[in-house]
Amino acid sequence: MSKIFVDACFGKETPYTPVWMMRQAGRYLPEYMEVRRRAGNFLNLCHAPDMAAEVTIQPLDIVNVDAAILFSDILVVPNEMGMKLDFVNGEGPVFESPIKNEADLDTLIGGVEAAAKLTYVYDTIALLRKQLDERGDNKALIGFTGAPWTLATYMIEGHGTKTYNVCKKMMYSNSKLLHKILAKVTEVVKLYMEKQIQSGIDVVQIFDSWAAAIEPDKYDEFSWRYMVEIADYLKSKYPHIPIIMFPKGVPAFLDKVYGNFDVFGVDWSTPMELAREKLGDKYVLQGNMEPCRLYCQEETTIAVEKIHSIMGGKRHIFNLGHGILPDVPVANAQHFVSECQRVSKKNH
Ligand code: CP3
Repeated sequence: MSKIFVDACFGKETPYTPVWMMRQAGRYLPEYMEVRRRAGNFLNLCHAPDMAAEVTIQPLDIVNVDAAILFSDILVVPNEMGMKLDFVNGEGPVFESPIKNEADLDTLIGGVEAAAKLTYVYDTIALLRKQLDERGDNKALIGFTGAPWTLATYMIEGHGTKTYNVCKKMMYSNSKLLHKILAKVTEVVKLYMEKQIQSGIDVVQIFDSWAAAIEPDKYDEFSWRYMVEIADYLKSKYPHIPIIMFPKGVPAFLDKVYGNFDVFGVDWSTPMELAREKLGDKYVLQGNMEPCRLYCQEETTIAVEKIHSIMGGKRHIFNLGHGILPDVPVANAQHFVSECQRVSKKNH
């Protein structure tokens, strides 16, 4: 039996519009916090396939979403390329020795060797494949990666940043080095996603969370073309696996979007009408409720109905326009999911 989520990614008619939430496996769920305590810390949790699989499945049962997203983090890739990673409480991820020059880059492991080190991710996927097949509810498993640009921002700055001044200094004054970093990460990511597919994921999502840091005239050169290169590689070998591109905050780039992928993830700052007008014929659209509407159930209902009326129940996947925040009440997340299913079942 085909999966409703996979069918929707390919633009096929489905009984209702499927829904999932970015960051749906996480700290807003008490059940997640319990497993995380057991794991000791976040990276241990990513490294333990049985516990990572457990938290991946939690939102299926608790909030009734139509797809599970692999529990891991985008930063395991640079970590396995050889960059020491810590998640500091209240501060987020920190790389001890960011890349400053070509010699730093050359010390990092690349290609096949780096992709082969991410065995715990592939083991988690294989376990999830088995568990999901046994459930028999045909919910899809989404695998993911960070876009090379988003990964590079952490590898160059060493941590999250508001200004991106270190990597932008490199962009404008040493673009050759930045391209070399992006190319090396792209090679690893292609093989990493290929192994995720071989281990059992149904769908790929590429997160370019920090796309908006790049001016529109430079976005293709420093990010989008690398994402397209990854998509081309995967599509040439695995055309049956849908690919979702999520560049966050790029309304000014919509006219220039191109590439061989299936779903365009619309972030909350981009009007859905605009995305539909510019891209709706070519790509299925995913999104895009402002995640903070989840703090108020009435505001959630208003947004879900509006998004549904714009998309007309066609070529659409419901989601938030970025990740759910840790202090959202679980009942409000459940309300969002059930409202998406209610409005779209009613009108199909
Ligand atoms: O449910 C899911 O979406 C699956 C798991 C997932 C995580 N990170 C778990 C996580 C996914 C898909 C990611 C992707 C990710 N990680 C992105 C891209 C998506 C986005 O939100 O834009 C980015 C930029 C990261 C990097 C990252 N990881 C940051 C900035 C942080 C700290 C900020 C925060 O939310 O605490 C993380 C840690 C992280 N990744 C947590 C989780 C559940 C929190 C860790 C914890 O304290 O338990």
